[in-house]
Amino acid sequence: MLEERHQPCNGHMLPNQQEIYQIIDLFECKRSNLIQILHQLQNIYGYLPDEVLIEVSERMSIPISEITGVVSFYSFFSTQPQGRHTIRVCLGTACYVRGGKKLIEKIQEILQIELGQTTADQRFTFEIARCIGACGLAPAVMIDNDVHRQVNSNKLKSILAKYE
Ligand code: FES
Repeated sequence: MLEERHQPCNGHMLPNQQEIYQIIDLFECKRSNLIQILHQLQNIYGYLPDEVLIEVSERMSIPISEITGVVSFYSFFSTQPQGRHTIRVCLGTACYVRGGKKLIEKIQEILQIELGQTTADQRFTFEIARCIGACGLAPAVMIDNDVHRQVNSNKLKSILAKYE
């Protein structure tokens, strides 16, 4: 039975050493299972804060530099809290030439965050993408799994309003 966790107001679970160790032990503390272990931990906490990486390093006797190297190598790992929705503005060639860069500036203005950041209310994380397969109707923006085509600055506010 897992120990009761404290839940902070932003909805992200605080790391719990016993829980981290349980996950590691489920994967037999094997170095070859490191990526799966990190995946499981990211599923629990929503991201991989330093405290979690340090616990993994100590429990598995793997240098912290090696663990942070793995985490930064794979784009699906994040060391920052993620928003409830992820916006990805396509900056592939077709989208870039048809206004993708302008969309980035507009989103920065609306949400008051830079690329790679998450809004203070944890609503959106803002990233870029490379071609999401909608080149014919560029510029495209992906929010979670939805692809929005022929997006322009005027449409952006109403698109974002659909995601709470
Ligand atoms: S370049 Fe943006 S969808 Fe292909």
